[in-house]
Amino acid sequence: MNTDAPVIPALTPPRRILLGPGPSPVDDRVLRAMAAPLLGHLDPLFIRTMDEIQTMLRYVFETNNRLTIPVSGTGSAGMEATVANLLEPGDEIVLCINGYFGERMYDMVTRLGAKPIRVECEWGGPVDIEKTREAWRTSNAQVLFAVQAETSTGVLQDIAPLREIVDERDGYLIVDAVTSIGAHAIGADRNRIDAVYAGTQKALSCPPGLAPVTFSDRAIAKIKARKTKVSSWYLDTNLLTAYWDSPAGTPRTYHHTAPITMNYALHEGLRMVTEEGLPARAARHERNHRALVAGVEAMGLGMHVAPEHRLWTLNAVSVPEGVDDAKVRARLLNEFDIEVGGGLGALKGKIFRVGLMGAGSTENNVLLLLAALEKCLKAEGFAPKDSGVSAAADFYAQ
Ligand SMILES: Cc1ncc(COP(=O)(O)O)c(C=O)c1O
Repeated sequence: MNTDAPVIPALTPPRRILLGPGPSPVDDRVLRAMAAPLLGHLDPLFIRTMDEIQTMLRYVFETNNRLTIPVSGTGSAGMEATVANLLEPGDEIVLCINGYFGERMYDMVTRLGAKPIRVECEWGGPVDIEKTREAWRTSNAQVLFAVQAETSTGVLQDIAPLREIVDERDGYLIVDAVTSIGAHAIGADRNRIDAVYAGTQKALSCPPGLAPVTFSDRAIAKIKARKTKVSSWYLDTNLLTAYWDSPAGTPRTYHHTAPITMNYALHEGLRMVTEEGLPARAARHERNHRALVAGVEAMGLGMHVAPEHRLWTLNAVSVPEGVDDAKVRARLLNEFDIEVGGGLGALKGKIFRVGLMGAGSTENNVLLLLAALEKCLKAEGFAPKDSGVSAAADFYAQ
């Protein structure tokens, strides 16, 4: 074995403009918050920070749910936390699958020994409500799952019709809000969602590393009535509650060492959301999304998703015939330091996934991306019909 200590240069990553499916650009305020000195995870000042994070998360989820916490781990940890707590082995769950993340949930549910009932829907369209109703009616499932913001396709899902289906027998609704949180309204209470999970690295503009979740009181009652222990020790909400939400007067107890710095980041990211306010933040995301669409359509490119189902945070732009999307994306990265995503699964090579999330959803980014995209598409043999930048600038001038 070589015993010489390796000599490794310090990291010097460039400042990429992150306009892909996530992570999104992190505001300097959040980066500065992460440089603050560490507190211990039971320090009264850190506990106050935790309380403030919970208060702000309730605002963003639009809920009064007591159990509203950031799970340590990325969005997938939040995803696993919802089903690990709400399902027991053998339980049926109806899964609406209209993209990559529905498939991931299928995998997770299978590993828990629960019985997933798949409702296959088109990648690029919303959930098929009639098919879902049929699956619900013909199953014994108590739980239904859908993705509000399918990052793989750019589709926004309306929650209300899903709640209506679940209400046919007082069921439980789980929603993935990883790419909607902080941009599209979630309305956890208004939509009576029983468990929602999200991530920090999209429209909350923090680095990846925490998964905000919220559980309704009904969901907690269901978890408390389980016949079997939650199979995951790490994600068991019964245990997490003792650290995040012990009854008044009872000291918080250690569960696992909270990622202190990530919580600082989330605290500052959420402060920025509350300062801007949810309605203004939604309006900003919508406006920049519309400007981008005006630009790409002027260039002669299409959008993969019908206008009424489009996400503002993730724009699925169709790759023109004969163009190699990977080459265009490589040019954007190498020549402009801009990251955009490619399609996944059935949409590989067919769409560019352009993220306009949180601090990344700006007029400057839209105009820069359109200019850069035009240059890179031309270099790959596609002749844009018209100027995307001009069309977007006209949109902004309205
Ligand atoms: C809709 C959706 N769900 C779940 C996840 C999983 O989150 P993570 O990659 O942070 O684990 C993602 C990540 O992009 C996502 O977009």
